[in-house]
Amino acid sequence: MRDIRSTSVSHAVRYEEIGGGYSLTRREDPRFAAAIHGALGDARSVVNVGAGAGSYEPQDRHVIPIEPSDVMAAQRAPTLAPAIRASAGELPLRDGSADAAMAVLTIHHWDDDQERGVRELRRVARDTVVILTYDPIVSGEMWLIADYLPEVAELDRRIFPSPEVLVGWLGGSIRIEVVPVPSDTPDWMLGSFWAHPERVLDERARHATSGFAGWTHTSSSASSRRFAETSRAARGTSDTVTFAASTPSTLAFVSSSARRTRVASRR
Ligand SMILES: C[S@@+](CC[C@H](N)C(=O)[O-])C[C@H]1O[C@@H](n2cnc3c(N)ncnc32)[C@H](O)[C@@H]1O
Repeated sequence: MRDIRSTSVSHAVRYEEIGGGYSLTRREDPRFAAAIHGALGDARSVVNVGAGAGSYEPQDRHVIPIEPSDVMAAQRAPTLAPAIRASAGELPLRDGSADAAMAVLTIHHWDDDQERGVRELRRVARDTVVILTYDPIVSGEMWLIADYLPEVAELDRRIFPSPEVLVGWLGGSIRIEVVPVPSDTPDWMLGSFWAHPERVLDERARHATSGFAGWTHTSSSASSRRFAETSRAARGTSDTVTFAASTPSTLAFVSSSARRTRVASRR
């Protein structure tokens, strides 16, 4: 096993700032959980990288959670395994340490370590790797982002690797699926705002989405104006509120297996 003390945890900083209160608005969605657990197949042991507060971790298998942020790890339920503080780019685990590895809504935070981190997932998993993420082209088409938050769409295009790029890094046989974001999801990710633009007005909800956190970190006067415009639309005072059921969000779901060969389309 590598020396955990030497593993870089610099990526923890962002979630040290924005992670407080995460588990209040970002609760596990049973439909995403079912998809993830199904994709893990018969794996008995799973490394969960970017494990956060523990959403989507299967309870009926041995889980090794990896999480760099103390703020996030502190929100883990006492019934879950404590998280090892480490970053995706250098997992403190031997090759093939677990049957499977999973990474849920986290790869876009891995900065320069994205490719290294995905190859680390492949290295530590004996068989399946499961990734739940956004395809930035598709997520940028969601009405709220396309019409009101083009800065977020632009940021997402820079930080989310496309499914095709992930496929190249993972190798092996790949399956890609589309996972719809239901309007009643308890996981209030930015994609869920497609059906709830009022969440733009809820600081707690905004704060727990990295899209808003990243945008407001780099906000210019143009983006402040746009935020005001978005808030007006969310309050329903604008003529442009046409959100009911328009352009729902979808997540891309990529799994790679050392054993199976199956490729599905993504739309
Ligand atoms: C949006 S949260 C997702 C947490 C959890 N997977 C879930 O679905 O609720 C993103 C997580 O990725 C973690 N993270 C950020 N940079 C990371 C890195 N370089 N390596 C591993 N995890 C990282 C953050 O600390 C945070 O807990």
